[in-house]
Amino acid sequence: MSQTKEIPLMEKIVSLCKRKGFIFQSSEIYGGINGFWDYGPLGAELKRNLRTTWWNAMMREREDVVPLDATIIMHPAIWKASGHVDTFADPMSTCKSCKKLVRSDQWWAMMCEQPWVQSLAALVEPGTDAFHTGDLLKWAKGKGKQLAPNLALVRNPEITLSWLAQDHEQGKRPQDAREFYLYLATEQRNVTGFVTPCPHCGGELTEPRPFNLMLRTHYGPIESDDNLCYLRPETAQAIFAQFKNVVDSTRVKVPFGIGQIGKAFRNEITPRNFTFRSREFEQMELEFFIPPDEVVQLIHGNVSTWSEGADLSTPQPNWGWEMWHRYWVAQRTAYYAGIGLGPDVLDYYWQSKADLAHYARACVDILFKFPFGTEELEGIAARGDFDLSQHQKHSGKPLEVFDEELRAAAVKLTDEQRAAFITKVQEDWNDHNKSREDATLFCERLLKGFYVPHVIEPSAGLDRLALAVLALAYTEIEKTDAKGAKETVTVMRFHPRIAPKKVAVFPLLKNKPELVSKARGVYDLLKKHLAADYDEGGSIGKRYARQDEAGTPFCVTVDFDTLGERGPELLDTVTLRHRDDGSQERVKISDLLGRLLPLVQ
Ligand code: GAP
Repeated sequence: MSQTKEIPLMEKIVSLCKRKGFIFQSSEIYGGINGFWDYGPLGAELKRNLRTTWWNAMMREREDVVPLDATIIMHPAIWKASGHVDTFADPMSTCKSCKKLVRSDQWWAMMCEQPWVQSLAALVEPGTDAFHTGDLLKWAKGKGKQLAPNLALVRNPEITLSWLAQDHEQGKRPQDAREFYLYLATEQRNVTGFVTPCPHCGGELTEPRPFNLMLRTHYGPIESDDNLCYLRPETAQAIFAQFKNVVDSTRVKVPFGIGQIGKAFRNEITPRNFTFRSREFEQMELEFFIPPDEVVQLIHGNVSTWSEGADLSTPQPNWGWEMWHRYWVAQRTAYYAGIGLGPDVLDYYWQSKADLAHYARACVDILFKFPFGTEELEGIAARGDFDLSQHQKHSGKPLEVFDEELRAAAVKLTDEQRAAFITKVQEDWNDHNKSREDATLFCERLLKGFYVPHVIEPSAGLDRLALAVLALAYTEIEKTDAKGAKETVTVMRFHPRIAPKKVAVFPLLKNKPELVSKARGVYDLLKKHLAADYDEGGSIGKRYARQDEAGTPFCVTVDFDTLGERGPELLDTVTLRHRDDGSQERVKISDLLGRLLPLVQ
């Protein structure tokens, strides 16, 4: 993934978010708390709109997905079964000098952001990897003392540089920029081997060790291992744990999905990039349950697999998991397009076999081109039957479904056909390193009409999406004022469906009671149906600018024409101004809702 740096743009976005009330640092009056963010008045509306678009696209507008709203704290056994207790960890190193924690897989990205690394990089001759030892020595005795006081090069420059010189004499050079910094962090290479420097102070980092990301707490008054529990690190597991209840209490039938939006918590080692990696965040997750391919084969006599150009528009009964996976990638892409995130700002990362979790068959990350680089917005994984099977095993409760069509198809098989079917499954499973016993057990249940559904999981981060739409909306425009002076103004070009406020209503003048009363009437009419704002402070130009910065797509001005002062034909009409091109038109008050609603819903 690229690591393009456009930090100034990010800084502008962060500053606008605070100034306009989109996002504030949590607990700011007490100095803030790292990795936690609050959404201000506009941010809360923005987030709510994003939630609604997801909810509608994934559930309301579909017949095959139902919602769930589960607790944040669940039985700790859930996290044992899901694998989170044992494996939900990031590799972490600690600095032996400043004691700060560093996520090992983010070490290089963090290094690139550090002033000491950037100032050392400036000593390397442009376009080459050549440097002068004298420059490094000077740096160590000057700037280095302030910027990276614990770096070996700073503490003991002569010894440290001797390793570089020694290797240089033997024709060896640092292989790449990373190794260059290992050299500069290493004092006694024959004793310690290469040392990895702390991005913060240059000190020595410990070997990485796994750090479990789940936040812990205790339920009940006594804090002991018996009542240890976790704040959920993902919303998904509740869906698996409640799978049976949902199936039993509704009329859903595989293929179907259960969706959930809610808070998740991860004790991230290095929260970074504003809200991108936070410790408390919100997820929008769908678990879409499908039959295993073997079931599809038995019922339909074939399994439709994906090939380039396959029609993914309408699910078909004979679709195998791959078609469903591609279908959800296409659905999610269409969702993003519907809120303004088109192909120009999205990208896809298809995980390689080596990247995949052992149980996953495929996973694609939908990436967004953030100002700090192209990074994950959503993951769409084909997780097989891993989750339900794990919960079935750990809870001892069956999580299979029964399919009458499957049983009927199985009953029709001759003995030879049954044997051939079982042999084929055993061979296929063997190719995927699954045991013959498991394959046989699976076939036995399947031939009676029972199976554990497989799952396709589109899992999106609401806060990352909010950050993406903020970054995408941010636009600077050069304007020339009435006196000819140039100024740069900011317009937040949110798609109208997600804009925090849809419309703002202004009376032309605030000291004319007829205008104010008429404008208030228009505001009252609109606010029942869409998020509206009323503003009578300052010039109309200032009010437009305020709304542009808030991203309001439409402004309505009530003026003397509205009162019919310039002729009866303009009575009860208002000026409707469009944010993106600044165009204005005259619209009847009675037509306003009809004009606006289709544009913002
Ligand atoms: N159930 C699957 C799951 O949780 P994930 O890739 O770990 O998968 C899904 O998370 C999405 O949640 C990510 O694509 C991202 O948008 C969001 N997410 C994950 N960790 C986050 C964090 N620390 N801060 C903000 N969003 C995060």
